[in-house]
Amino acid sequence: MKEKNSLILSELRYSFPQRTLWENLSLNAESGNFIALRGHSGSGKTTLLQCLGSLEKPSSGIIDFNGINPSTLKGKAKRNYLRNTVSLAFQNSGLVGSWSVRKNIELAGYEVKQDQTRAETAFNYFDLDYSFLDKPVYQLSGGEQQRVSLIRLALRNTPLILLDEPTAALDDGNAQRVINFVQNHCDKGGIAVIATHDARLLGYAHDSIDLG
Ligand SMILES: Nc1ncnc2c1ncn2[C@@H]1O[C@H](COP(=O)(O)OP(=O)(O)O)[C@@H](O)[C@H]1O
Ligand SMILES: [Mg+2]
Repeated sequence: MKEKNSLILSELRYSFPQRTLWENLSLNAESGNFIALRGHSGSGKTTLLQCLGSLEKPSSGIIDFNGINPSTLKGKAKRNYLRNTVSLAFQNSGLVGSWSVRKNIELAGYEVKQDQTRAETAFNYFDLDYSFLDKPVYQLSGGEQQRVSLIRLALRNTPLILLDEPTAALDDGNAQRVINFVQNHCDKGGIAVIATHDARLLGYAHDSIDLG
């Protein structure tokens, strides 16, 4: 991972014909920062994470991660951003139900067989049996699916990680693992943006964006 990372949001706004979801968002985050993204349900937390992940575009304003504006990326540059720079753990796990855990993990180009020991360590870390690797995702519980997204995120090891309410379905033990994982990511110089209301997690944030 690159040691120096920076995320700058400048006057971001997201509107659709009926209304403005958020506006005037500015932020300056550097290596090691965990940014909490707060706001009531429907305030646009998921939409903002999608903008940071190049899956959505803000209506105006600039996102800059290490000099890259994800909103302007196309084709190969966009694939590279999604492959090497950012990982997103979706709220509803974001996995393809009919695919195996392995295929879901390998979606963005990572291969488990590159380093099986590392993959096993990640499974152990998030307390998921390694034999789940070849199970179809629909056979897993909501909490297990959320842990698969976290395992995928951990294995991909990108400098920017985006987590959407990652601890919502997790007990205290697993929530603590997420916190330790995020702290470790930040200690290595990464940046984390995490949508959450969870007091267990909020206490560790360096800065926050409140969408109201
Ligand atoms: N392009 C759009 N057109 C119409 N409604 C949208 C659009 N994008 C988002 N929304 C609405 O904005 C709201 C915010 O969504 P979301 O980002 O999921 O909020 P949160 O994650 O904070 O609950 C939702 O009600 C969603 O349906
Ligand atoms: Mg959401």
